Amino acid sequence: MEHTISIKSQAERKVTDTKSLPFGKIPTEHMFIAEYKNGEWHNAQVVPFHDLTLSPLALCLHYGQTVFEGMKAFMTEDGHINIFRMDKHYERFIKSLHRMCMPPVPQKLFTNAIHQLVQLDGDWVPREADGSLYVRPFMIATEDRIGVKVSEEYLFMVVCSPAFQYYAKPLKVKVETNFVRAAEGGTGNAKCGGNYGGAFYPTQLAREAGYDQVLWTDSVHNEFIEESGTMNAMFFIDNVLVTPQLSGTILDGVTRDSLLTIAAAKGITVEERQISYEELIRAFEAGKRVEAFGAGTAAVVAPIEIIAIGHKEYKCYIEPDAMMYQLQKELFNIRKGVTADTNKWNYII
Ligand SMILES: Cc1ncc(COP(=O)(O)O)c(C=O)c1O
Repeated sequence: MEHTISIKSQAERKVTDTKSLPFGKIPTEHMFIAEYKNGEWHNAQVVPFHDLTLSPLALCLHYGQTVFEGMKAFMTEDGHINIFRMDKHYERFIKSLHRMCMPPVPQKLFTNAIHQLVQLDGDWVPREADGSLYVRPFMIATEDRIGVKVSEEYLFMVVCSPAFQYYAKPLKVKVETNFVRAAEGGTGNAKCGGNYGGAFYPTQLAREAGYDQVLWTDSVHNEFIEESGTMNAMFFIDNVLVTPQLSGTILDGVTRDSLLTIAAAKGITVEERQISYEELIRAFEAGKRVEAFGAGTAAVVAPIEIIAIGHKEYKCYIEPDAMMYQLQKELFNIRKGVTADTNKWNYII
């Protein structure tokens, strides 16, 4: 079925000073919205940003049938807008929707929705080197009925917000061995709302103890590193880039995949495997140089300065010559069109 997107643009468009505002606080002037009813998508529209009217019975408000994505658009050096790895985000969106019993969005509709919206609000793509436009596609169950069931109706929407540096300084993280984020067979590898709601309490406790984030461990042994907040966990030890394998309990991060590809192309040994906190302790205690960082769309590469394991804090290597900054720089250059996009990751509007 062909989906024509109607566009109602706002006459007056103001770009405010967004740099000083917290991440995600200011939406751009427009948004995309489409309705799913009777087994089909209808009314695909780009419209001025507005609040929704939902029945208090809407299923998403009660049973968590919600899925989202997060990607970024960049202004390239030669003045084009580049949406980074839209295809890979689409693939993950579809997998998450499947896991949550939600209907797929046709790829053409997804791509056109984002293309039209980002093009219309193109003035909002920051020109500053450290800026980008965060693009948030999401779907919610809207059928109005109290009852634990799969919804028959949905809204698929896209909103955008200018984004700058996510974390102002290197992170202090705590290895979490009491609470778990996800278990085998659960929804850990889906980008569904409930995963985040469930992570708030342990993260809040870690913040109260002076840490920025937790490093989750596996649900069986509470020993193997999983991921952190909205980032995959990566380590560079003994000249090897190590990251937990895609087990089904962690998100298949697009940044993770990009950095692994960039590292492999540079001739760096890359290992996707289990990594226990015991292995980290051994490396720290042997006096090795340990780089640790989070990899995610929002934070890109977030250096970790301190890892707390039990009652002990270990210091990671965060000096300017660290490998993670080289990988970050290469990713930056591809997205800004400075170096060749050999992997075809850029979608240029
Ligand atoms: C739980 C979780 N892990 C990892 C990531 C990193 O994924 P990506 O690099 O695709 O943003 C995210 C962010 O989307 C996330 O929410």
